[in-house]
Amino acid sequence: MIIQRVVLNSRPGKNGTPAAENFRVEEATLPDQISEGQVRVRTLYLSVDPYMRCRLNEETGVDYLKPWQLSQVTDGGGVGIVEESKYAHLSEGDFVTSFSWPWQTRAILDGEILEKVTPQLVDGHLSYFLGAIGMPGLTSLLGIKEKGHVTAGSNQTMVVSGAAGCCGSLAGQIARLEGCSRVVGICGTDEKRSVLVSELGFDAAVNYRTEDVEGQLRDLCPAGVDVYFDNVGGSVSDAVIRQMNENGHVVLCGQISQYNRDVPYPPQLPPAVEAILKERNITRERFTVLNYRDKFDSGILQLSRWFREGKLKVGLRREADLPRSSRLLPGLLPVALGADTGVRSPRPLTRNPACTETRRRHRNLLRNRFGPTLSNGSCRLRRVFLLFVVSVKRSLGARHCSKPWASPHPERPPPSHELLPFVPFRSVAKKNVASHSFF
Ligand SMILES: NC(=O)c1ccc[n+]([C@@H]2O[C@H](COP(=O)([O-])OP(=O)(O)OC[C@H]3O[C@@H](n4cnc5c(N)ncnc54)[C@H](OP(=O)(O)O)[C@@H]3O)[C@@H](O)[C@H]2O)c1
Repeated sequence: MIIQRVVLNSRPGKNGTPAAENFRVEEATLPDQISEGQVRVRTLYLSVDPYMRCRLNEETGVDYLKPWQLSQVTDGGGVGIVEESKYAHLSEGDFVTSFSWPWQTRAILDGEILEKVTPQLVDGHLSYFLGAIGMPGLTSLLGIKEKGHVTAGSNQTMVVSGAAGCCGSLAGQIARLEGCSRVVGICGTDEKRSVLVSELGFDAAVNYRTEDVEGQLRDLCPAGVDVYFDNVGGSVSDAVIRQMNENGHVVLCGQISQYNRDVPYPPQLPPAVEAILKERNITRERFTVLNYRDKFDSGILQLSRWFREGKLKVGLRREADLPRSSRLLPGLLPVALGADTGVRSPRPLTRNPACTETRRRHRNLLRNRFGPTLSNGSCRLRRVFLLFVVSVKRSLGARHCSKPWASPHPERPPPSHELLPFVPFRSVAKKNVASHSFF
């Protein structure tokens, strides 16, 4: 079987900006037969995450995250559907995810590294297992809970940078749900600013590209800033910290503005800003979501509940918008956007009658489960290899179907009280892929 895949073509260099030519799309042959313990999957979604920037370097800077190798297939979080299985715990038609999903249209993978996901948790939006109801969602939730010191009723103001990104947009909403009285976002365009306020419930937002962040925050946070959810670092963060109150807390989630620079993580703050932290007794502890695996089960269920209750809004973006980390991995855009870009998109074969038949069955399956809307979306996504998020990271230790929420009869969604914990990162632990320098 001929498949299309993305391989690393060249490295941008530690101080370089990744470009499309760092990746190339090529064809390869997938064996027709799978072995015992293996499954053949068709890729539905891949997540492009900021941490991948360090995998573009010859050394990632950490033991537990391997660099991508030249001319080898790149990988990351992915979601797909099982087309054939010789692994006892997975069957054809199951939706699965992995943190080490190869960027190719189809793949033969060890069943061991796959986790079965339950579409009901995300109302059928499978990409959410890579985003709001996955690793980024957990990052926002656990970051706030573990490092934010948010207390309902204490009138706290939270500022979120990278607020229109996956973690940021969720962090702002979660801050409100957890009890912050005022939430202000920082983002890079006026359109994002307006979405944050009108759709995601932020009280206000600042465009860091066109506005004076510090001056705006002075006006927008009259009582000062108590909690800062920091996704970006650099001058934006310096400006926020200068507006922080005594005994405040910085959730050091990420420093995306620094990832194209060869500096240690986290990058040092300017001495004057460091002095503010000390003088005002502001905590700024590094947060790594993968250090909180024991809280993933309850976290995912919490995120899923909020989402299904309409309390957590998830950005529904068109492929053409694909904002996620596009600056870090622009090479993915052509892949994600398909033939319009002039780069051949790794689409699943459409002319092979056997494939067409399999897809028809899967389409009917989805239509029966979720109705025509998802089914139509799924058809479209079949043509689009990559999607945004987005991110996280993922799903559910339902591999063995031993848990009620991992219903083997997905047409009957389990009632929410039946939802039991699961271990989203089980496969990650098995593969010894842990946190990385950009987490
Ligand atoms: N600690 C952890 O365990 C953990 C886990 C996951 C992610 N993270 C970190 O969380 C952060 C956000 O990740 P994500 O998954 O939400 O990524 P994302 O969806 O790609 O969003 C990133 C956002 O960063 C903003 N941005 C990019 N470059 C910037 C710059 N130079 N200055 C200011 N803003 C910039 C972009 O917004 P604009 O277009 O508006 O600039 C974009 O919306 C990253 O730093 C990532 O490394 C940490």
